[in-house]
Amino acid sequence: MDLDEFVDGLDYPMYVVTTALGDERSGCLVGFGTQVSIDPARFLVCISQANHTHALVLEADHVAVHLLRADQHDVAELFGGETGDDVDKFEHCAWSPGPQGVPVLDDCARVLVGHVIERHDLGDHTGLLLEPVAQEAREGEPGLTFQQVEHIDPGHDA
Ligand SMILES: Cc1cc2nc3c(=O)[nH]c(=O)nc-3n(C[C@H](O)[C@H](O)[C@H](O)COP(=O)(O)O)c2cc1C
Repeated sequence: MDLDEFVDGLDYPMYVVTTALGDERSGCLVGFGTQVSIDPARFLVCISQANHTHALVLEADHVAVHLLRADQHDVAELFGGETGDDVDKFEHCAWSPGPQGVPVLDDCARVLVGHVIERHDLGDHTGLLLEPVAQEAREGEPGLTFQQVEHIDPGHDA
């Protein structure tokens, strides 16, 4: 049985999750993300096993989780509608090396850099349990949600 009836019409924040391994960088648009513990603080992001980003997050120690402003549809299209198998997304956006060398987008509302302390096979996604190591709130409020980007054709089949 699927979950379509239960989740139909729901709205929730969208994230861009980025990481680096050696000289390689990758990142994708993610809807499956949430805080899962208060003390200790823990955040979970789930990466599709089909994605280019998946191979990197299996080995990378750190990832950056970005919240986007409502006007950042172009960033959502880049990270959700293109795949690193075909394009280097980091040639099409401004970014800087952050803590532990993880690529951090210059333009976003908030960013969390997390240490990957556990990985869980959740089905067709891998859950990354993150311990926060840095966070920053920038100009503007996070506002990009699932309902605003649902139309994007994913760069990778789920
Ligand atoms: C609305 C929407 C929600 C998505 N949610 C997730 C998600 O939670 N986890 C994930 O790994 N991919 C998710 N994707 C798919 C990836 O962002 C997309 O396939 C991307 O192109 C993969 O890039 P990559 O192959 O470079 O990693 C979502 C895509 C869209 C449009």
